Amino acid sequence: MGFLSKLFKNDSKKEMESMSNVKLAVIYYSSSGTNYQLAQWAEEGAKEAGAEVKVLKVPETAPQSAIESNPAWKKHHEETKNVPEVTLEDLEWADAIIFSVPTRFGNMPSQMKAFLDTTGGLWFNGKLVNKVVSAMASAQNPHGGQEATILSLYTTMYHWGAIVAAPGYTDPVTFAAGGNPYGTSVTVDQDGNMVEDVQAAVKHQAKRTVSVAEMVKKSHN
Ligand SMILES: Cc1cc2nc3c(=O)[nH]c(=O)nc-3n(C[C@H](O)[C@H](O)[C@H](O)COP(=O)(O)O)c2cc1C
Repeated sequence: MGFLSKLFKNDSKKEMESMSNVKLAVIYYSSSGTNYQLAQWAEEGAKEAGAEVKVLKVPETAPQSAIESNPAWKKHHEETKNVPEVTLEDLEWADAIIFSVPTRFGNMPSQMKAFLDTTGGLWFNGKLVNKVVSAMASAQNPHGGQEATILSLYTTMYHWGAIVAAPGYTDPVTFAAGGNPYGTSVTVDQDGNMVEDVQAAVKHQAKRTVSVAEMVKKSHN
């Protein structure tokens, strides 16, 4: 208990409840809706922490025929037609970014990678330095690559010079969500339903990302 109380006895709650002037982009890719839902929970958590939030999808790169061939994909694609697509200007705008992606063979989806690969100009001009970032993921199996997928995103973030604000074990809600300290992750069953209850962990992660971004912003003023 001494160990746990050391972990959780901190001022992070106080920081999270204060109003912030942080601008947060939640950038996601989703074929069947899981990561869109995670993104929406992150938006809720960040807004509760006082952040200004944009939920943005990365452009779909798969051919229309592939989308049409999968009813769940087609349905989600149509339902989220009005979600704005992320642009490079959104990255410049954001103080903090939360990424959310389904695993693809233990890695991020090519749609997200394609977007990240357009950030070379911003990177070259130092525009991504000190962005506060964290990431979430989903997979069909409990050990299907959630952690590796999140870490694959963080590899790019280190190149950006971003500050990774992983949740770690900063709140007990992480345990109830499966205990992934790299970022909240969830398992999805064959019908597309989430297996673990991760809503609270997502909201905690969002609040923590906002509070770290606030600290970074303050230190620059
Ligand atoms: C090409 C492809 C590769 C996948 N690879 C994995 C995998 O390695 N491990 C796993 O557990 N699930 C894998 N999945 C399942 C997806 O991760 C799962 O459908 C996704 O997390 C659901 O998220 P979404 O509803 O946001 O699309 C794969 C799915 C596809 C289409």
